[in-house]
Amino acid sequence: MAHKLTERALDDVIDEMIDVVENSKDEIFHISEEARKEHEQLVEELKETRKQVIQHIDNGDKLQQKVRYSRQRLAEVSKYFDRYSEVEIREVYENTHELQTKLAMLQQEEKTLRDKRDYLERRLVTLSQTIERAEGLAGKISVILTYLHDDFRQVNEMIESAKEKQEFGLKIIEAQEEERRKISREIHDGPAQMLANILLRSELVDKIFRNGDMEQAMEEIKSVRDMVRTSLYEVRRIIYDLRPMALDDLGLIPTIRKYIATLSDYSGTEVEFSLSGEERRVSQKYEIAFFRLVQESIQNALKHAEASLIQVKLEIGSDYLNMSVKDNGKGFDPSMKRDKSFGLIGMRERVEMLDGDMEIDTELGKGTRVLIRVPLS
Ligand SMILES: Nc1ncnc2c1ncn2[C@@H]1O[C@H](COP(=O)(O)OP(=O)(O)O)[C@@H](O)[C@H]1O
Ligand SMILES: [Mg+2]
Repeated sequence: MAHKLTERALDDVIDEMIDVVENSKDEIFHISEEARKEHEQLVEELKETRKQVIQHIDNGDKLQQKVRYSRQRLAEVSKYFDRYSEVEIREVYENTHELQTKLAMLQQEEKTLRDKRDYLERRLVTLSQTIERAEGLAGKISVILTYLHDDFRQVNEMIESAKEKQEFGLKIIEAQEEERRKISREIHDGPAQMLANILLRSELVDKIFRNGDMEQAMEEIKSVRDMVRTSLYEVRRIIYDLRPMALDDLGLIPTIRKYIATLSDYSGTEVEFSLSGEERRVSQKYEIAFFRLVQESIQNALKHAEASLIQVKLEIGSDYLNMSVKDNGKGFDPSMKRDKSFGLIGMRERVEMLDGDMEIDTELGKGTRVLIRVPLS
């Protein structure tokens, strides 16, 4: 449950980041649009200003010509002022003055226009750079968005699956520890206790024997022998549960047969076995896996199903192995998650490791059937 929460939290964080980045992208787009508009406007203005500068230069030239002419005239009038009337002289003088003032103004205007033109040119360069930068930034942000949308989510999924694997690994370790606890308990309660008992009884036999009661001594020895036999059986059973040696020596089918025969002796449930296809050996990894798969399926049926009949079928094909374990018990709801159950999970893991498929057919009251198919490589 906890990791589901973190997964949500991570998704939320990514969503928020995407929001922020998308907003920035909009803003940058806005800035870039504004800059572009201003750029267009300034280009027009610059064109106009340049035209005006040329116009002013032109006008200035003409005016300068006039000023020069007017000055000459003034010089002439001044030189021969006795030839001209006072009105005429003043006129020439005022005309020259007026032209000179106009020219000065025109030159001043021209300078202002030149300054404006230079400023516009500089501003246009800065604007172009801004536009370029904004576009570059928008491109980078798009990359970030793609990264956030796809890659980052994949990273998220990878983290999740890694976490699940880690959790599963921890569960396996727990299950192993539990298995060890079970075995030590079994040895403690079974063979160890019996051996202690046998020791006591053998001392008793000793005493009875010394007292000369042969009859009773023989009786005791017989009971000690029974105890040794039972202990031996127990020890063998425990060893067998750990790893049936027959599996390596005789192979899968004889081991399953033997396993089922022993079970039938000790449980009230009938267990049937049938084999189709050729009885042959397959490589060890499949033999071990299938023995465990059959074992766990039968154990589940015995432990949980309250069945009266369990049918085990095996098929060794040329390039596949099939297993079906069916019981007529009470069935169960496989979607229900059980906290401390690793049997079915472990089976699925084994099957997946061998690239196979596992299917559980079950319905409450209608029994259970476990189907497994694994390709032989
Ligand atoms: N053949 C079956 N019939 C009825 N219930 C079953 C059967 N197999 C499994 N179950 C149910 O599924 C649960 C999970 O099984 P499993 O993973 O093997 O764990 P465990 O056997 O340790 O409880 C069992 O506790 C049981 O409730
Ligand atoms: Mg089980």
